[in-house]
Amino acid sequence: MQGLRKLFRPSWSSAVKLDDTTAVITGANTGIGKETAIDLSKRGAKVILACRDMEKAQAAVKEIIESSGNDNVCCMKLDLSDSKSIREFAEAINKNEPKLNLLINNAGVMVCPYGKTADGFEMQIGVNHLGHFLLTYLLIDLIKRSAPARIVTVSSMAHSWGSINLEDINSEKSYNKNKAYAQSKLANILFTRSLAKRLEGTGVTTYSLHPGVVQTDLWRHLSSPEQFFIKIAKPFTKNSVQGAQTTIYCAVEPSLEKESGGYYSDCAPANCSAAGKDDELAQKLWELSCQMLSITWE
Ligand SMILES: NC(=O)c1ccc[n+]([C@@H]2O[C@H](COP(=O)([O-])OP(=O)(O)OC[C@H]3O[C@@H](n4cnc5c(N)ncnc54)[C@H](OP(=O)(O)O)[C@@H]3O)[C@@H](O)[C@H]2O)c1
Repeated sequence: MQGLRKLFRPSWSSAVKLDDTTAVITGANTGIGKETAIDLSKRGAKVILACRDMEKAQAAVKEIIESSGNDNVCCMKLDLSDSKSIREFAEAINKNEPKLNLLINNAGVMVCPYGKTADGFEMQIGVNHLGHFLLTYLLIDLIKRSAPARIVTVSSMAHSWGSINLEDINSEKSYNKNKAYAQSKLANILFTRSLAKRLEGTGVTTYSLHPGVVQTDLWRHLSSPEQFFIKIAKPFTKNSVQGAQTTIYCAVEPSLEKESGGYYSDCAPANCSAAGKDDELAQKLWELSCQMLSITWE
């Protein structure tokens, strides 16, 4: 049992300090995002929690300050299911922050019932991919000016059973909640790959990752039998601290400084699906995302 558990647990650690570094982490009031925030603030970074629920966010800020001893932690409202909220958030960051060295695109929803964002996008592709796509677009000039900088996007191994339905990305003709989640997580990987190419030579590098199977609130939309199964599988899964390690690795590991666009798992480079390496598909998704968001991003 111990050996099996170890298989799923990364042993990576690093003493890298992050003084003079500013980080934005989406969905950092709980789960993997909160543990990432605790770690980065312990390293000395200024950490901004970008969250949709300000009450939960304030409670998380308090907890992070207490456990890290760093009081340079704050929260700001960001609802990734509403482009107006994303634009307001980015405007405030661009106005008030002199630099942004780490953008952690962590927030996510999984297998929710069919729903749409304020802009009419299916909820999972809307929040997990399009919301982060727009956020990154709006912050990219500040991030470039802050180089060296990193953009880390939390994907999932679930991407491997996904495909991008370019004809019906909003699943309007038929909705399968698992496929829609997988599609959004594949989109995270393709976005990271395309973004790396566009950022070549800027000192800004990009990473996507699978955090492991982690006991968090993410499972809230699963059926009761599915939730029961996840509970009995607990000894083989990760807790939030363990689940945050690959994100932290991508954000701080010095040897990754020259790497960009790759996919990671268990604090090491990992293999993503063939679709995750399909540059033609990545380009089509990029163009479709720009069109849906009414932005121009060459
Ligand atoms: N847990 C796993 O086993 C696992 C496996 C593979 C990948 N992942 C990925 O890991 C990431 C973090 O998930 P987690 O496991 O830590 O789940 P979690 O505990 O449910 O955290 C998800 C975070 O995203 C936030 N969020 C959801 N919708 C949002 C929106 N519209 N605007 C802004 N924030 C929003 C949530 O806010 P509220 O608290 O307000 O809901 C929460 O803070 C996700 O991208 C997920 O896909 C997780």
